[in-house]
Amino acid sequence: MVKEIKTEEPWRVGVLFSNSGFLAVIEETQLRGTLTAIDEINDNGGVNGRPLEPVIYDPGSETAAFGRYAKQMMVEDGVSTIFGCYTSSSRKSVLPVVERLNGLLWYPTLYEGFEYSPNIVYTGAGPNQNSLELCRYLMHHFGNRFYFVGSDYVYPKVSNKIMWEFVRTNGGEVIGERYLNLRAKPKDFISVMEDIKHTQPDVIFSTVVGEATSLFYQAYMDYGFDPKVMPIASLTTTEAEIRNMGFDVGEGHITAAPYFDGLENAASSVFAARFKKRYGADEPTNMCLEAAYFQVHMFAQALEQTNSMETDLLRPTILGSEFEAPQGNISINKGCSHADLWTRIGRADRAGRFEILYESNSKVSADPYLIGYGRSIAF
Ligand code: ACM
Repeated sequence: MVKEIKTEEPWRVGVLFSNSGFLAVIEETQLRGTLTAIDEINDNGGVNGRPLEPVIYDPGSETAAFGRYAKQMMVEDGVSTIFGCYTSSSRKSVLPVVERLNGLLWYPTLYEGFEYSPNIVYTGAGPNQNSLELCRYLMHHFGNRFYFVGSDYVYPKVSNKIMWEFVRTNGGEVIGERYLNLRAKPKDFISVMEDIKHTQPDVIFSTVVGEATSLFYQAYMDYGFDPKVMPIASLTTTEAEIRNMGFDVGEGHITAAPYFDGLENAASSVFAARFKKRYGADEPTNMCLEAAYFQVHMFAQALEQTNSMETDLLRPTILGSEFEAPQGNISINKGCSHADLWTRIGRADRAGRFEILYESNSKVSADPYLIGYGRSIAF
């Protein structure tokens, strides 16, 4: 009989978020959310008596570095589970690595949907959990004429295609669509603002990400546009970007997210207290940070059962599992490895907090391919 070997060896996990470069404004918060959860788990005795040990790399907001570091972690550092990635392009750079080496990537960011990998757990919102309700809200409260502004990469382009379909199917129109370099400069927004002034949309839908978000909202303010009349609505402008641009610049603009800082429930209070104790009372939480936090807990929950880092053992344990997250009770959808999440819409106030304008009655099942919505997505 093989004697069970008791060990206190750490469980090594990979952590892959940028804390430098133009995406650090949001990815550093995801890094912090991950480390907050790891600390919390270790303070409570680890998993089956063994602590989690993060192996951390900084990809510096460079897409190719994500794939490179993922490979390095798996081949050289003995890591099989990775928490990481903000942009869809960085996820797509890690995907072939985890598929080839049978690892597991936990991806805590909203994205455009229309993807499935058995080696990824998607814990951010897909279009049926954010865009759909946001579109409905905007058409009801502001009007039918949309103007799209996004960063120039896969998420904004595909996300806008889906939003375009929602708008068009419900009798609206998209009167402008512009993409800016991820490293856009203030002057790059001038022609966009001129076009907005000229076309006078009812609402601007932004899929701008990272540092450029501040430049975009600042340019909007400089042009004297009024968010009460024509707000910028977004899926990516969180408390972190609002803080970066200045509370006065962000005030009045709208974001759809599963979680906003300050949600009142027991799990949210524990999470916020832990995070603020570690990083400062003035540091706001946000949806991407929250997903980065709860996904580590969901992983630990599965690891406790498998007592093994084997992806083939972890995967069936994760699928269908539930967790009391700060946003509410959530689950990993068995059919598609995406999280069933809450839908909320908020408007930023003068203090950089989101006032909640809409909240779903329950978590919304993940449907990354919009199968449940048929060919026409009428409200
Ligand atoms: C994103 O690129 N999924 C925000």
